[in-house]
Amino acid sequence: MTEAAQWMRTGGDESSLPTDLHTERPHPARMYDYFLGGKDNFPADRAAAERAAAGWPNVRKATLENRRFLGRAVRYLAAEAGVRQFLDIGTGIPTANNTHEVAQSVAPDSRVVYVDNDPIVLAHARALLVSTPQGMTSYLDADLRDPEKILEHPDLRSVLDFRQPIALMLIAILHFLPDDQDPYGIVRRLVSSLPSGSYLALTQVTGDFDPFETGRLVQSYRESGVQLQARTHAEVERFFDGLDIVEPGIEVVSEWRPDAAQVERFSRREVSVYGAVARVR
Ligand SMILES: C[S@@+](CC[C@H](N)C(=O)[O-])C[C@H]1O[C@@H](n2cnc3c(N)ncnc32)[C@H](O)[C@@H]1O
Repeated sequence: MTEAAQWMRTGGDESSLPTDLHTERPHPARMYDYFLGGKDNFPADRAAAERAAAGWPNVRKATLENRRFLGRAVRYLAAEAGVRQFLDIGTGIPTANNTHEVAQSVAPDSRVVYVDNDPIVLAHARALLVSTPQGMTSYLDADLRDPEKILEHPDLRSVLDFRQPIALMLIAILHFLPDDQDPYGIVRRLVSSLPSGSYLALTQVTGDFDPFETGRLVQSYRESGVQLQARTHAEVERFFDGLDIVEPGIEVVSEWRPDAAQVERFSRREVSVYGAVARVR
C-alpha cells in the first residue's frame, strides 16, 4: 500500500501529510476537486485554483460542464453505442457520476479501468469506487505520456478484452500535455490498440471563444508549475484523424447532446471546453 493510501485509511489528517502526495505543489486533480467543491485538496492546490479563478472567473462553470459532459458521453456510449468496456485515463478524484457508476447504471456488467498519475486519486479510487457485482473496476498508477506502460499493464488486460469494443476516455487531460509531449502521437498509439467499433471521447480547453481570458488561465496554471495548453477547433479535430465523429461533432461540452432537463445553461464563451465522441472504424 502506498504512503498516501495508508494515510487516507487513518483519516487523512492534514497535519501529517505523506511525502508521496507532494502537497507542497499544486496538482491538476486536486485543483479540479477544489473547483467542484470537493475536500481533497491542499493549501498549494487551493491557492493555485484561486489564482486561476482570478484570471478566468468562469473556470468553475467550465469544470462543472466538463463533468456533465463526462456523464452524458458515458451514458451515450453505454446506452446508444452499446459499449461495455471503458478505459478512463485521467480519472480525477472520485465525485458524483463517475464513469463506472454511469456505465453500470445502464449496463451493470460494464467493466472500467481507471488510470491516473496522482497518488491521491488512486488512494481514493481504491477506497471509494466500488463496482457492481456483475461489473469490474480496476485502477492503474500510470502516466498518459507512457502509453506502452498502460497498454502492457497486466491489470488492464485482465479487465478489458481487446477483441471487444472499448471506449477510451480522455476527459480534461489532453490540455495538460503541451504539443512538445506528443499528445497526438500518444492518442494515435492508444487508439490504434483498440478494435473496430471502439470509441474515443475527449474534452479539451479552448481559447476560440475567449482568447484573452483563457490565455490568462493558461498563464496562471503555468505560473503554478502546471503545464496547460488551450487548443483550437482544428487542433482538437486532429485528435480524431481517421475516426468517425458522432453527432453533433466537436462542440462546446455544454452543447454536446444537452440534457433537456438541465435548467442551468452557460454560454460557449463561459464554458470554453470542447468535447466530442468518435467511433473507431
Ligand atoms: C481535470 S482532472 C479531470 C478528471 C475527470 N476526467 C473529469 O473530467 O472529471 C485531470 C486528471 O488527469 C490527471 N492527469 C493529469 N496529467 C496526467 C498524466 N500525464 N497521466 C495520467 N493522469 C494525468 C490528473 O491527476 C487528474 O486526475
